[in-house]
Amino acid sequence: MSAPAGAVGAVAAAAARGAGGRVLVVDDDRGLCELCDVGLGRRGFSVAWRTSAEEALESMRDGDFDAVVTDLNLRDMNGIDLCARVAANRPDVPVVVITAFGSLETAIAAIRAGAYDFITKPFEMEALALTVRRAVQHRTLREEVVRLRRAVKDAQRFDDIVGQSRAMRAVYDLLERVASSDASVLVTGESGTGKEVVARALHRRGRRAAGPFVAINCAAMPESLLESELFGHAKGAFTDAKAARTGLFAQASGGTLFLDEVGEMPVGLQPKILRALQERRVRPVGGDGEVAFDARIVAATNRDLESAVEERRFREDLYYRINVIHVAMPPLRGRGSDVLLLAQHFLERFAAQAAKKVTGLSPAAAERLMGYAWPGNVRELANCMERAVALTQYEQVAVEDLPDKVRSYRSSHLILASGDDPSELVPMEEIERRYVLRVLDAVAGNKTLAAQILGFDRKTLYRKLDRWGVAPG
Ligand SMILES: Nc1ncnc2c1ncn2[C@@H]1O[C@H](COP(=O)(O)OP(=O)(O)OP(=O)(O)O)[C@@H](O)[C@H]1O
Ligand SMILES: [Mg+2]
Repeated sequence: MSAPAGAVGAVAAAAARGAGGRVLVVDDDRGLCELCDVGLGRRGFSVAWRTSAEEALESMRDGDFDAVVTDLNLRDMNGIDLCARVAANRPDVPVVVITAFGSLETAIAAIRAGAYDFITKPFEMEALALTVRRAVQHRTLREEVVRLRRAVKDAQRFDDIVGQSRAMRAVYDLLERVASSDASVLVTGESGTGKEVVARALHRRGRRAAGPFVAINCAAMPESLLESELFGHAKGAFTDAKAARTGLFAQASGGTLFLDEVGEMPVGLQPKILRALQERRVRPVGGDGEVAFDARIVAATNRDLESAVEERRFREDLYYRINVIHVAMPPLRGRGSDVLLLAQHFLERFAAQAAKKVTGLSPAAAERLMGYAWPGNVRELANCMERAVALTQYEQVAVEDLPDKVRSYRSSHLILASGDDPSELVPMEEIERRYVLRVLDAVAGNKTLAAQILGFDRKTLYRKLDRWGVAPG
């Protein structure tokens, strides 16, 4: 399988460059350069080194580096000036500065000049590798953000459903196969996962696209009203029935009837619905004749219908009748970098609506969005982006434009780095599990590529997935 273009491109590119990334070490001390070459090389980076700032800048014009490590005292230039030059010419390449122990002021000056981070001498190679690794990850995330705009346009999608995660591609496969059939479809999923979006897409992609799409929310009205809405009524059927009215089943003929929140369907009405679906005829309230209809039925619920069946709140026979094909919408937190793709999609939409020049997300904002659990799923993300576009004073949505609960998220690598709140600490294997799944999702399930990025062989990856109960699909 080839990795799709777009958000995952940066990860794939990082993999192609060597798992750890390409690092340029600048120090006029050859010995230290060689030490870094061996030490970082052993830890998965591909290392080049230069002993002067001019040489380093020259190399950066020709080659692509993921990070630069520089000493402060260079022969031909101050390390801080080198930072400033890199920040001006190649703002995408993070610089890590090596400072002398105790010289916090120069470290701060370096950060001001655009350095990503600093490390004090003498240092452990392991600590340098950790800092460089974070710098490379930071760059990868930045690239990912830059690529998102294009990705939104090129993204694989089904109709107007945005997303290209493995979970969503499985949904598209299923929708593709069932769109042109007449079989009843039950769409389940947490609130805001896009169940109605799916119902509409099925309609538009099906044979009945030219017919009507008629939607009704089964939770929105009392039983008697719902019955006359669905089945229609004869003139004089009840006090207000001054004229006969065609029900929604009949109105949907030639098209699709969408029974939203079907789990809330009153128990008393369920046998009548079942009968209508079986016989493809309805009896209007207060009438004596029957009316045939020819509509495809798509139903949706965020309830667990199987336990509703067990608790006798939902008829088993009706459940089987509507659940011929089951489309389970994955929660947004299981869709990996679709979060960023959708965020960019909504951002562009709301920016256009508000005629405001907002073009993307800052890397830090993207990171918070990726880490938040999104209990309200895509709807919550859409609301979050609408608010952010309205609030932001920049072209890029910043962390401060996000709601508090999204901002307060700390990513797993921040937990690793700081770890000051014990309640957020988790076992090492849990960190590993989350990260492995995230990488897998980012490379669209490509195990060879994922194993390369993670530095495992394929067998090890399979063994781990097996232990965590993840099907090697
Ligand atoms: N994959 C997607 N791509 C683009 N927009 C989406 C996607 N999924 C959901 N949306 C948007 O998110 C919002 C919520 O989607 P929808 O109303 O379909 O969710 P739902 O599952 O029916 O939620 P509920 O259970 O609360 O009724 C809508 O504005 C919809 O357009
Ligand atoms: Mg809905």
